[in-house]
Amino acid sequence: MNEKLVIAVLAGTTREQRESIKAAHYIADFASQLEDVEVIFVDPKDFSFPGDGNDPEGKDPRYTEIVAKADAFFIVTPEYNHSFPGSLKRMLDSELALYNHKPVAFAGASNGNWGGVRAVESLLTAVRETGLVTLSWDVYFPYVQNIFDAEGRIKEEYRERYEKSLGKLFDELLLFAQMFKQLRQGEKS
Ligand SMILES: Cc1cc2nc3c(=O)[nH]c(=O)nc-3n(C[C@H](O)[C@H](O)[C@H](O)COP(=O)(O)O)c2cc1C
Repeated sequence: MNEKLVIAVLAGTTREQRESIKAAHYIADFASQLEDVEVIFVDPKDFSFPGDGNDPEGKDPRYTEIVAKADAFFIVTPEYNHSFPGSLKRMLDSELALYNHKPVAFAGASNGNWGGVRAVESLLTAVRETGLVTLSWDVYFPYVQNIFDAEGRIKEEYRERYEKSLGKLFDELLLFAQMFKQLRQGEKS
């Protein structure tokens, strides 16, 4: 039996009325139906990162454990002032070496027609410095408030489009995850 690949799906904001959390849960649910995949959902609301930086006192040990265990990441970010939220940056900043040689995919979300593309573009600079390896395309949720129903289920008219995009993106993410897992195992031996 294949060892499962562990994908950490990171929600990007702690905002009370956040809509992008629906996209994050949808992506996590999608991934959990894939073969030989274990999904860990990371809501920044559930973690605590005192101060700034990645000194031991600035970490949350539960997040450290997840980053250590993850073979790949999927970050789902809303766009705030043409960038990504501070809580996502704070969470990402709290680790460094444990991200190295692991792939990451992105989804953006916004209440307008840009779909969070500027948030994802601005994430690239920070993420590159962590050692995470980015893919060459993303998934976007423009007018995210219209895509899911009140219970967070994707509306029927959007289902096919997003299943197709996510299918392609996860094929690539899992391919990278497997390759880099083997690379890291080689580095350890
Ligand atoms: C502080 C703040 C700044 C925002 N700035 C932008 C922006 O620059 N561009 C944009 O398309 N939407 C912007 N939005 C609206 C978000 O796209 C909208 O809230 C959407 O639902 C996704 O974010 P959410 O998960 O917080 O709901 C902003 C929202 C907040 C709270």
